Amino acid sequence: MSKTRISPSILAADFSCLGRELARMEHAGADMIHFDVMDGVFVPNISFGIPVLASIRKATSLPFDIHLMIADPLRYADAFAKAGADMITFHLESDSDPRETIRAIHAAGSKAGLTIRPSTPVEALFPFLPELDFALIMSVEPGFGGQSFLADAPDRIRALRSMSPDLPINVDGGINRETAALCREAGADILVSGNYLFGAKDAAAAIDSLR
Ligand code: DX5
Ligand code: ZN
Repeated sequence: MSKTRISPSILAADFSCLGRELARMEHAGADMIHFDVMDGVFVPNISFGIPVLASIRKATSLPFDIHLMIADPLRYADAFAKAGADMITFHLESDSDPRETIRAIHAAGSKAGLTIRPSTPVEALFPFLPELDFALIMSVEPGFGGQSFLADAPDRIRALRSMSPDLPINVDGGINRETAALCREAGADILVSGNYLFGAKDAAAAIDSLR
């Protein structure tokens, strides 16, 4: 039996009916919902933020997995937690102090995750692993959905897995049936997927194909 958990990224959802899109993923068997926050500073795109999370929190009982692609995650950790974030991931390359940010996320009652851009060596995560609830490997450059999976991501997952046998590892970007298999084999636990899941006619079959 597979323990792989699936986190649909609502960046690829139809925003004109977000509540229905969440219900569709929940009924299809999603384990959590991935919520990509972009500030137009840390990444060259702007998505959605705290009021949207607070509003859709009521639409599903699934945990919310928040991916902060923002310059100053420390400043906003508490507000995202209060709006309903169960898990908060931020970037090591942001301006916030990583240890202080992890502590702030925990103090706000959420699980803390750390991630890195594809160009940052995976070893940069290692000093923080004991304080984290999970780590996220980006398999595309953060900022946009619908990009192609970067071929070196499985090796980065393997390197992280060898350092930390039990830490949940998330992977985000370009996940489909084929790339999901590479990530599972490398040791990933949680697969984030946007376009592949929301673009599928049969979301339940698409989710199953990633496990
Ligand atoms: C990219 C985001 C991803 C994105 C994944 O910056 O972090 O979560 O939504 O989308 P797909 O699965 O379409 O690559
Ligand atoms: Zn993401």
